[in-house]
Amino acid sequence: MGGSPSFPREALSPERVVIVTGGNTGIGYETAKWIAMLGAHVIIACRSKERALHAISIMEADFQEEKQKGTSGLTSGTLSVEFMELDLSSLKSTLKFVEDFKALGKPLHVLICNAGLGMHPLTYTEDGNELMFQVNYLGHFLVVMKLLPVMYQSGPDCRVVLVSSVAHNWASFDLDKIQARQYNEANFDRAEYYYKSKLYQVMQMYSLNRRIHQSNVVVNCLHPGVVDSEFTRSFRDDCHWTCLYRCAKCTGVSITPYKGAITSIDVAVNRKHEGVRDVYFDKCAPVTPSPESRNQEKQEELWRFSLACLKDYLTEEEVKDLEKT
Ligand SMILES: NC(=O)c1ccc[n+]([C@@H]2O[C@H](COP(=O)([O-])OP(=O)(O)OC[C@H]3O[C@@H](n4cnc5c(N)ncnc54)[C@H](OP(=O)(O)O)[C@@H]3O)[C@@H](O)[C@H]2O)c1
Repeated sequence: MGGSPSFPREALSPERVVIVTGGNTGIGYETAKWIAMLGAHVIIACRSKERALHAISIMEADFQEEKQKGTSGLTSGTLSVEFMELDLSSLKSTLKFVEDFKALGKPLHVLICNAGLGMHPLTYTEDGNELMFQVNYLGHFLVVMKLLPVMYQSGPDCRVVLVSSVAHNWASFDLDKIQARQYNEANFDRAEYYYKSKLYQVMQMYSLNRRIHQSNVVVNCLHPGVVDSEFTRSFRDDCHWTCLYRCAKCTGVSITPYKGAITSIDVAVNRKHEGVRDVYFDKCAPVTPSPESRNQEKQEELWRFSLACLKDYLTEEEVKDLEKT
Protein backbone atom coordinates (compact mmCIF):
# COMPACT_ATOMS: atom_id res chain seq x y z
CA MET A 1 0.00 0.00 0.00
CA GLY A 2 1.14 3.56 -0.58
CA GLY A 3 4.85 3.35 -1.38
CA SER A 4 7.08 6.26 -2.22
CA PRO A 5 5.54 9.01 -4.29
CA SER A 6 6.51 8.76 -7.95
CA PHE A 7 5.55 9.93 -11.40
CA PRO A 8 5.05 7.68 -14.44
CA ARG A 9 8.15 7.25 -16.57
CA GLU A 10 6.13 7.51 -19.77
CA ALA A 11 7.20 9.29 -22.93
CA LEU A 12 5.69 12.72 -23.56
CA SER A 13 5.07 14.14 -27.01
CA PRO A 14 7.74 16.60 -28.19
CA GLU A 15 4.76 18.73 -29.26
CA ARG A 16 3.80 19.22 -25.62
CA VAL A 17 4.98 22.62 -24.39
CA VAL A 18 5.62 23.16 -20.69
CA ILE A 19 6.67 26.37 -18.91
CA VAL A 20 8.42 26.07 -15.53
CA THR A 21 9.01 29.35 -13.73
CA GLY A 22 12.22 29.35 -11.69
CA GLY A 23 13.46 26.30 -13.60
CA ASN A 24 17.14 27.12 -13.10
CA THR A 25 17.55 25.62 -9.62
CA GLY A 26 15.98 23.59 -6.83
CA ILE A 27 12.58 22.02 -7.33
CA GLY A 28 12.01 23.90 -10.60
CA TYR A 29 15.28 22.63 -12.07
CA GLU A 30 14.43 18.98 -11.38
CA THR A 31 10.85 19.48 -12.58
CA ALA A 32 11.97 21.04 -15.86
CA LYS A 33 14.74 18.49 -16.39
CA TRP A 34 12.58 15.41 -15.87
CA ILE A 35 9.71 16.69 -18.00
CA ALA A 36 12.23 17.44 -20.77
CA MET A 37 13.90 14.05 -20.32
CA LEU A 38 10.48 12.42 -20.84
CA GLY A 39 10.34 14.23 -24.18
CA ALA A 40 8.32 17.45 -23.85
CA HIS A 41 9.56 20.89 -24.92
CA VAL A 42 10.31 22.87 -21.76
CA ILE A 43 10.74 26.61 -21.32
CA ILE A 44 12.46 27.66 -18.13
CA ALA A 45 11.28 31.16 -17.27
CA CYS A 46 13.98 32.70 -15.10
CA ARG A 47 15.29 36.09 -14.08
CA SER A 48 18.96 35.35 -14.75
CA LYS A 49 20.02 34.34 -18.26
CA GLU A 50 23.42 33.26 -16.99
CA ARG A 51 22.00 30.98 -14.29
CA ALA A 52 19.42 29.58 -16.69
CA LEU A 53 21.94 28.74 -19.44
CA HIS A 54 24.22 27.17 -16.87
CA ALA A 55 21.27 25.08 -15.62
CA ILE A 56 20.49 23.92 -19.16
CA SER A 57 24.08 22.75 -19.64
CA ILE A 58 23.91 20.77 -16.37
CA MET A 59 20.59 19.28 -17.48
CA GLU A 60 22.29 18.03 -20.65
CA ALA A 61 25.00 16.35 -18.57
CA ASP A 62 22.43 14.83 -16.18
CA PHE A 63 20.47 13.54 -19.19
CA GLN A 64 23.52 11.77 -20.62
CA GLU A 65 24.20 10.25 -17.19
CA GLU A 66 20.62 8.97 -16.87
CA LYS A 67 20.81 7.49 -20.38
CA GLN A 68 24.02 5.68 -19.48
CA LYS A 69 22.37 4.30 -16.35
CA GLY A 70 19.59 2.93 -18.57
CA THR A 71 16.85 4.91 -16.79
CA SER A 72 13.48 3.98 -18.26
CA GLY A 73 11.11 6.34 -20.05
CA LEU A 74 13.71 8.80 -21.33
CA THR A 75 13.23 10.37 -24.74
CA SER A 76 15.36 8.91 -27.51
CA GLY A 77 15.67 12.41 -28.95
CA THR A 78 17.62 15.38 -27.68
CA LEU A 79 16.71 17.44 -24.65
CA SER A 80 14.49 20.34 -25.72
CA VAL A 81 14.84 23.12 -23.16
CA GLU A 82 14.96 26.85 -23.77
CA PHE A 83 15.31 29.91 -21.57
CA MET A 84 13.01 32.91 -21.49
CA GLU A 85 13.50 35.91 -19.25
CA LEU A 86 10.99 36.50 -16.46
CA ASP A 87 11.43 38.59 -13.34
CA LEU A 88 8.26 38.15 -11.31
CA SER A 89 9.15 41.07 -9.05
CA SER A 90 8.43 43.41 -11.97
CA LEU A 91 5.03 43.49 -13.66
CA LYS A 92 6.70 45.12 -16.67
CA SER A 93 9.11 42.19 -17.02
CA THR A 94 6.25 39.74 -16.45
CA LEU A 95 4.22 41.33 -19.23
CA LYS A 96 7.26 41.29 -21.53
CA PHE A 97 7.72 37.57 -20.83
CA VAL A 98 4.09 36.90 -21.79
CA GLU A 99 4.44 38.93 -24.98
CA ASP A 100 7.71 37.20 -25.89
CA PHE A 101 6.10 33.81 -25.36
CA LYS A 102 3.04 34.71 -27.43
CA ALA A 103 5.33 35.95 -30.22
CA LEU A 104 6.81 32.44 -30.52
CA GLY A 105 3.40 31.23 -31.69
CA LYS A 106 3.73 28.04 -29.67
CA PRO A 107 0.88 26.24 -27.92
CA LEU A 108 1.01 25.88 -24.13
CA HIS A 109 -0.08 22.71 -22.40
CA VAL A 110 1.36 22.99 -18.91
CA LEU A 111 2.24 26.08 -16.88
CA ILE A 112 4.09 25.31 -13.65
CA CYS A 113 4.16 28.33 -11.34
CA ASN A 114 7.13 27.26 -9.25
CA ALA A 115 9.38 30.31 -8.74
CA GLY A 116 9.26 31.71 -5.26
CA LEU A 117 11.09 32.98 -2.25
CA GLY A 118 10.43 32.71 1.46
CA MET A 119 10.84 34.61 4.71
CA HIS A 120 12.23 37.62 2.88
CA PRO A 121 12.73 40.87 4.82
CA LEU A 122 10.15 43.59 4.15
CA THR A 123 10.74 44.82 0.61
CA TYR A 124 8.52 46.58 -1.89
CA THR A 125 8.72 45.93 -5.59
CA GLU A 126 8.91 48.69 -8.22
CA ASP A 127 5.13 48.16 -8.54
CA GLY A 128 4.62 48.96 -4.85
CA ASN A 129 3.73 45.43 -3.73
CA GLU A 130 5.23 43.44 -0.87
CA LEU A 131 7.88 41.26 -2.56
CA MET A 132 6.69 37.74 -1.61
CA PHE A 133 3.09 38.66 -2.46
CA GLN A 134 4.19 39.70 -5.94
CA VAL A 135 6.80 37.05 -6.79
CA ASN A 136 5.01 34.04 -5.31
CA TYR A 137 1.45 35.02 -6.19
CA LEU A 138 0.56 38.18 -8.11
CA GLY A 139 3.18 37.90 -10.87
CA HIS A 140 2.11 34.32 -11.52
CA PHE A 141 -1.54 35.45 -11.47
CA LEU A 142 -0.72 37.82 -14.33
CA VAL A 143 1.12 35.11 -16.29
CA VAL A 144 -1.83 32.72 -15.90
CA MET A 145 -4.43 35.33 -16.89
CA LYS A 146 -2.45 36.30 -19.99
CA LEU A 147 -1.63 32.76 -21.10
CA LEU A 148 -5.01 31.13 -20.53
CA PRO A 149 -6.21 32.18 -24.02
CA VAL A 150 -3.17 30.38 -25.50
CA MET A 151 -3.98 27.28 -23.44
CA TYR A 152 -7.62 27.34 -24.60
CA GLN A 153 -6.31 27.01 -28.16
CA SER A 154 -3.79 24.26 -27.34
CA GLY A 155 -6.04 21.20 -27.41
CA PRO A 156 -7.17 18.85 -24.65
CA ASP A 157 -5.61 18.31 -21.24
CA CYS A 158 -3.98 21.64 -20.40
CA ARG A 159 -2.85 22.19 -16.82
CA VAL A 160 -1.83 25.01 -14.51
CA VAL A 161 0.21 23.78 -11.53
CA LEU A 162 0.71 26.12 -8.56
CA VAL A 163 3.62 25.18 -6.28
CA SER A 164 2.24 26.23 -2.90
CA SER A 165 3.24 24.90 0.53
CA VAL A 166 1.94 23.23 3.66
CA ALA A 167 2.74 26.64 5.18
CA HIS A 168 -0.52 27.97 3.69
CA ASN A 169 -2.23 26.23 6.64
CA TRP A 170 -0.66 28.68 9.09
CA ALA A 171 -1.89 31.81 7.32
CA SER A 172 -5.05 33.84 7.68
CA PHE A 173 -6.57 36.07 5.05
CA ASP A 174 -6.85 39.75 5.84
CA LEU A 175 -7.47 42.07 2.91
CA ASP A 176 -6.22 45.13 4.81
CA LYS A 177 -2.86 43.49 5.50
CA ILE A 178 -1.94 42.19 2.03
CA GLN A 179 0.39 45.06 1.24
CA ALA A 180 1.94 45.05 4.74
CA ARG A 181 1.69 48.84 4.95
CA GLN A 182 1.18 48.64 8.74
CA TYR A 183 4.71 47.33 9.25
CA ASN A 184 8.28 48.47 9.16
CA GLU A 185 11.43 46.38 8.78
CA ALA A 186 11.60 45.76 12.52
CA ASN A 187 8.09 44.44 13.14
CA PHE A 188 7.38 42.78 9.79
CA ASP A 189 6.70 39.05 10.30
CA ARG A 190 8.40 37.62 7.22
CA ALA A 191 7.25 34.04 7.89
CA GLU A 192 3.62 35.18 8.16
CA TYR A 193 3.89 36.91 4.79
CA TYR A 194 5.43 33.85 3.17
CA TYR A 195 2.60 31.69 4.53
CA LYS A 196 0.08 34.22 3.23
CA SER A 197 1.57 34.19 -0.27
CA LYS A 198 1.21 30.40 -0.33
CA LEU A 199 -2.38 30.68 0.95
CA TYR A 200 -3.21 33.05 -1.92
CA GLN A 201 -2.07 30.42 -4.43
CA VAL A 202 -4.49 27.84 -3.02
CA MET A 203 -7.29 30.42 -3.00
CA GLN A 204 -6.43 31.32 -6.61
CA MET A 205 -6.81 27.68 -7.63
CA TYR A 206 -10.45 27.72 -6.51
CA SER A 207 -11.38 31.11 -7.93
CA LEU A 208 -9.78 30.33 -11.29
CA ASN A 209 -11.36 26.88 -11.60
CA ARG A 210 -14.75 28.40 -10.80
CA ARG A 211 -14.37 30.58 -13.87
CA ILE A 212 -12.81 28.11 -16.31
CA HIS A 213 -14.45 24.84 -15.26
CA GLN A 214 -15.99 24.32 -18.68
CA SER A 215 -12.67 24.72 -20.46
CA ASN A 216 -9.79 22.37 -21.37
CA VAL A 217 -7.63 23.89 -18.61
CA VAL A 218 -7.47 22.63 -15.03
CA VAL A 219 -5.74 24.25 -12.07
CA ASN A 220 -4.23 22.31 -9.18
CA CYS A 221 -1.75 23.09 -6.45
CA LEU A 222 0.68 21.21 -4.23
CA HIS A 223 3.13 21.03 -1.37
CA PRO A 224 6.56 19.78 -2.53
CA GLY A 225 7.84 18.76 0.93
CA VAL A 226 10.59 20.40 2.98
CA VAL A 227 13.30 20.60 0.37
CA ASP A 228 17.03 21.16 0.69
CA SER A 229 17.31 23.65 -2.17
CA GLU A 230 18.56 27.23 -2.53
CA PHE A 231 15.38 28.35 -0.81
CA THR A 232 17.32 29.45 2.30
CA ARG A 233 19.06 32.24 0.33
CA SER A 234 16.38 34.80 1.09
CA PHE A 235 16.53 34.27 4.86
CA ARG A 236 20.22 33.71 5.52
CA ASP A 237 20.22 36.69 7.88
CA ASP A 238 17.45 35.09 9.99
CA CYS A 239 18.97 32.71 12.57
CA HIS A 240 15.68 31.08 13.49
CA TRP A 241 14.76 29.97 9.97
CA THR A 242 18.32 29.18 8.93
CA CYS A 243 18.69 26.90 11.99
CA LEU A 244 15.35 25.21 11.32
CA TYR A 245 16.37 24.37 7.73
CA ARG A 246 19.83 23.22 8.91
CA CYS A 247 18.22 20.95 11.53
CA ALA A 248 15.82 19.59 8.92
CA LYS A 249 18.81 18.70 6.77
CA CYS A 250 20.88 17.15 9.59
CA THR A 251 17.97 15.07 10.90
CA GLY A 252 17.00 13.83 7.46
CA VAL A 253 13.64 15.63 7.51
CA SER A 254 14.35 17.59 4.35
CA ILE A 255 14.39 15.90 0.99
CA THR A 256 16.43 16.41 -2.17
CA PRO A 257 15.21 18.75 -4.94
CA TYR A 258 14.56 15.66 -7.08
CA LYS A 259 12.23 14.20 -4.42
CA GLY A 260 10.71 17.65 -3.94
CA ALA A 261 9.91 17.80 -7.66
CA ILE A 262 8.09 14.48 -7.82
CA THR A 263 4.64 15.86 -6.96
CA SER A 264 5.04 18.77 -9.40
CA ILE A 265 6.03 16.38 -12.20
CA ASP A 266 3.22 13.97 -11.38
CA VAL A 267 0.54 16.68 -11.28
CA ALA A 268 1.90 18.12 -14.54
CA VAL A 269 2.21 14.93 -16.63
CA ASN A 270 0.43 11.93 -15.11
CA ARG A 271 -2.37 10.93 -17.49
CA LYS A 272 -4.55 9.86 -14.57
CA HIS A 273 -4.86 13.52 -13.54
CA GLU A 274 -6.40 14.54 -16.87
CA GLY A 275 -9.51 16.63 -16.15
CA VAL A 276 -8.77 16.71 -12.40
CA ARG A 277 -9.09 20.19 -10.88
CA ASP A 278 -9.30 21.89 -7.47
CA VAL A 279 -6.94 19.43 -5.80
CA TYR A 280 -4.16 20.27 -3.36
CA PHE A 281 -1.58 17.48 -3.63
CA ASP A 282 1.02 16.35 -1.10
CA LYS A 283 3.27 13.38 -1.92
CA CYS A 284 1.26 12.93 -5.14
CA ALA A 285 -1.97 12.38 -3.18
CA PRO A 286 -4.95 14.68 -2.61
CA VAL A 287 -5.02 16.40 0.79
CA THR A 288 -7.59 18.86 2.12
CA PRO A 289 -6.14 22.39 2.24
CA SER A 290 -6.91 24.82 5.08
CA PRO A 291 -10.49 25.98 5.79
CA GLU A 292 -9.28 29.57 5.21
CA SER A 293 -8.19 28.69 1.66
CA ARG A 294 -11.59 27.13 0.95
CA ASN A 295 -13.60 30.17 2.04
CA GLN A 296 -15.29 31.30 -1.18
CA GLU A 297 -16.09 34.80 0.04
CA LYS A 298 -12.43 35.40 0.87
CA GLN A 299 -11.32 33.85 -2.43
CA GLU A 300 -13.50 36.38 -4.26
CA GLU A 301 -12.15 39.26 -2.16
CA LEU A 302 -8.62 38.22 -3.11
CA TRP A 303 -9.65 37.86 -6.76
CA ARG A 304 -11.02 41.41 -6.89
CA PHE A 305 -8.00 42.79 -5.06
CA SER A 306 -5.62 41.03 -7.47
CA LEU A 307 -7.45 42.41 -10.50
CA ALA A 308 -7.26 45.89 -8.98
CA CYS A 309 -3.47 45.50 -8.51
CA LEU A 310 -3.20 44.47 -12.18
CA LYS A 311 -5.58 47.05 -13.62
CA ASP A 312 -2.83 48.61 -15.76
CA TYR A 313 -1.78 45.21 -17.11
CA LEU A 314 -5.05 43.45 -17.93
CA THR A 315 -7.57 44.78 -20.41
CA GLU A 316 -11.29 44.86 -19.61
CA GLU A 317 -11.78 42.31 -22.43
CA GLU A 318 -9.30 39.89 -20.85
CA VAL A 319 -11.13 40.04 -17.54
CA LYS A 320 -14.58 39.83 -19.16
CA ASP A 321 -13.53 36.90 -21.37
CA LEU A 322 -12.45 34.98 -18.32
CA GLU A 323 -15.65 35.70 -16.42
CA LYS A 324 -17.77 34.31 -19.27
CA THR A 325 -15.68 31.22 -20.11
N1 LIG B 1 12.29 24.41 -0.31
C1 LIG B 1 11.23 24.15 0.46
O1 LIG B 1 11.37 23.60 1.58
C2 LIG B 1 9.84 24.48 0.00
C3 LIG B 1 8.75 24.07 0.78
C4 LIG B 1 7.46 24.38 0.35
C5 LIG B 1 7.27 25.08 -0.83
N2 LIG B 1 8.35 25.48 -1.57
C6 LIG B 1 8.10 26.24 -2.81
O2 LIG B 1 8.75 25.62 -3.89
C7 LIG B 1 9.07 26.59 -4.89
C8 LIG B 1 10.48 26.39 -5.38
O3 LIG B 1 11.36 26.60 -4.27
P1 LIG B 1 12.82 25.95 -4.15
O4 LIG B 1 12.87 25.25 -2.85
O5 LIG B 1 13.17 25.22 -5.38
O6 LIG B 1 13.69 27.29 -3.99
P2 LIG B 1 15.00 27.80 -4.80
O7 LIG B 1 15.98 26.70 -4.91
O8 LIG B 1 15.41 29.04 -4.08
O9 LIG B 1 14.44 28.17 -6.24
C9 LIG B 1 13.55 29.26 -6.38
C10 LIG B 1 13.45 29.66 -7.84
O10 LIG B 1 12.61 30.82 -7.91
C11 LIG B 1 13.29 31.80 -8.68
N3 LIG B 1 12.91 33.18 -8.36
C12 LIG B 1 13.04 33.84 -7.18
N4 LIG B 1 12.67 35.12 -7.33
C13 LIG B 1 12.29 35.26 -8.63
C14 LIG B 1 11.83 36.35 -9.40
N5 LIG B 1 11.71 37.58 -8.89
N6 LIG B 1 11.51 36.13 -10.70
C15 LIG B 1 11.66 34.92 -11.25
N7 LIG B 1 12.12 33.85 -10.58
C16 LIG B 1 12.44 34.03 -9.29
C17 LIG B 1 14.76 31.57 -8.37
O11 LIG B 1 15.58 32.22 -9.36
P3 LIG B 1 17.10 32.67 -9.01
O12 LIG B 1 17.90 31.41 -8.98
O13 LIG B 1 17.45 33.60 -10.10
O14 LIG B 1 17.04 33.33 -7.65
C18 LIG B 1 14.81 30.05 -8.45
O15 LIG B 1 14.85 29.64 -9.78
C19 LIG B 1 8.79 27.95 -4.26
O16 LIG B 1 7.57 28.46 -4.74
C20 LIG B 1 8.68 27.64 -2.78
O17 LIG B 1 7.83 28.53 -2.10
C21 LIG B 1 9.64 25.20 -1.19
